[in-house]
Amino acid sequence: MQRKPIIAIDGPSGAGKSTLSKLTAQRLGFVNIDTGAMYRCVALAAARSGIEPEASGALQNLCRQLDIRFVPAAEGERVLLNGEDVSVAIRTPANSLLTSRVAAVPEVREALVALQRRMGESGGVVLEGRDIGSVVFPQAEVKIFLSASATERGRRRYDELRAKGEAVSLAQTIAEVEQRDRNDCMRAHSPLVKPVDAIEIDTSGLTIEQVLEQILAAVSLVRGDNA
Ligand code: DC
Repeated sequence: MQRKPIIAIDGPSGAGKSTLSKLTAQRLGFVNIDTGAMYRCVALAAARSGIEPEASGALQNLCRQLDIRFVPAAEGERVLLNGEDVSVAIRTPANSLLTSRVAAVPEVREALVALQRRMGESGGVVLEGRDIGSVVFPQAEVKIFLSASATERGRRRYDELRAKGEAVSLAQTIAEVEQRDRNDCMRAHSPLVKPVDAIEIDTSGLTIEQVLEQILAAVSLVRGDNA
């Protein structure tokens, strides 16, 4: 039997990776691995233990003690950190900003990349992140790079936060998206880059269904479904 492919979905914050990765995994019956949630767990655990993002040794030790799991649930996937459901706690604006700093630490990246490789190496997985197609699985059979303007991505994030009842401003949310872009693109270790062999989809002005169809078409091509 043909081995199931590895699908890498990279791109900046708010480009639609989470939604599209989950839908792609659902449609194909693949496992979805949200690597951003893994970095978010490290940031949350660091904040709770009073570890600064500069303390690379302490962060490396911390990574060894973390048990991160994704559990399917009726209301969407839950993220468990050492058995505790942290799905909400990891997505606050403060933890989001801290995450982009913690994710710049080479020791943290090494630990999480090793874990992500173990989770995905047998195929049949969709991994979403920033460095999946470039670093974690450069041999991934399908590489998608989702993009959208910072204003569009900030607006989506703002709508999400408002829907959750958070009192945020649009300008502030766009500024935070831009700040995270700078952190993610300018870090020395595994910055966000579009792999040369990735298919770029600008999601501005497209519906979720339209983007999903493009991703599924790319997967079909690789699997030879129409051959
Ligand atoms: O996708 P997200 O917004 O949940 O990601 C949270 C942060 O983690 C973001 O600042 C980028 C970083 N990240 C990363 O550096 N590498 C990944 N593979 C995934 C996320």
